Amino acid sequence: MSKNICFIDGLEGILKYRGIDINQLVDLPYDAISYLLILGELPGDQELAEYSACLHGAREVNREVLDVIHMCNFNVDSMEALRTIVSFMSQFDPDITDSSPEGNTRKAIRLIARIPTAVAAHYRIVNGNEPVPPDPSLSHGANFLYMIRGSKPSQLEAEVMEKDFILSAEHELNASTFSSRVTASTLSDLYSAIVSGLCALKGPLHGGARAEVMTMIEEIGSQENAEKIILEKIEKKEKIMGFGHRVYKTYDPRGAIFKQLSRELAEAKGDMCWYEIAEKIEETVIRELVEKKGKPIYPNVDFYSGVIYKYMDIPPQLATPIFAIGRVSGWIAHCFEQYEKKRIIRPRAFMLDEC
Ligand code: SDX
Repeated sequence: MSKNICFIDGLEGILKYRGIDINQLVDLPYDAISYLLILGELPGDQELAEYSACLHGAREVNREVLDVIHMCNFNVDSMEALRTIVSFMSQFDPDITDSSPEGNTRKAIRLIARIPTAVAAHYRIVNGNEPVPPDPSLSHGANFLYMIRGSKPSQLEAEVMEKDFILSAEHELNASTFSSRVTASTLSDLYSAIVSGLCALKGPLHGGARAEVMTMIEEIGSQENAEKIILEKIEKKEKIMGFGHRVYKTYDPRGAIFKQLSRELAEAKGDMCWYEIAEKIEETVIRELVEKKGKPIYPNVDFYSGVIYKYMDIPPQLATPIFAIGRVSGWIAHCFEQYEKKRIIRPRAFMLDEC
């Protein structure tokens, strides 16, 4: 059952992947987390070394895929481009018609390895630069930053990116995971299921919130403005991006870790500005919505992650693709579980009233 993959206690603010608390997992390499999610247990040292070698060796995308990335309309949203690129990548996967567990695992490794390369290549090309080939010696997080920047990141930034991918990796039956899982439940192929997840994640009420958080913080611009602008939004009954959750009715445990990471980055950069604006936003929302109105509207996974991207000079258009880079392991875990069940997911209309 999907609870074997992920456990969430929305009242206590607990998140576990395969029974292990997120606070224990966040210091491991992302490779270990994707192994845990798609293969069901944490790897030993030898297993991790072999798996990482396989993953890192599969990062390159072929010439035809790079040609399509070049053809992607420069005005197109990064997630729309990624949806197209992943769909096109499937045509070059030698296992595309192999739906055996072994074939699906090989496809899974290619998807986990190549989605970051595709995101980075598209970003470089739309900004007038040539793609930077992946470096198999780097971690998932360090390699992604290297491919978008063309230079190796600091150890802190590499660690923060790695933790971001881990915190984004899995979250039970959220909208995008449910979309992937429903597609897999028809026994459609893994690439199609992942494209379904990408399409759902794009929405601003789901994965698109991080970019909206970044825009909101930029518009606020100073701690002094924060309270006034947030009060205006609350007055107009606008949703504050990066806050609230369907399941968590307390602080999102991922949000707490992202908050700490954004503070570490702010202190390392000697610039507390964005962090202090975010803290003021949080303070105002908690006071006005939680304390005064009893609404459990706490920072979710997308609030302080948006602050982190500000400090790492990651533009808003990369925020949701970064979420997808982390989440693809969770999508695949759920697809694999559904393939084993060989049973279509077919809810009834009355159930939508509860969703
Ligand atoms: C993700 O499901 C997952 O696990 C998702 C995710 C994952 O890892 O996959 O955690 C990732 O999608 C996080 C959420 C990112 N989205 C945002 O940050 C957008 C802003 N948040 C809201 O849109 C909202 O909180 C949702 C969509 C996240 C959840 O909304 P619900 O549970 O459907 O709540 P609701 O819309 O029914 O609102 C209930 C009340 C309403 O007030 P009343 O009408 O009862 O007076 O709470 C209010 C809402 O207005 N409310 C907010 C609010 N979120 C809910 N008020 C202000 N700001 C907000 N953000």
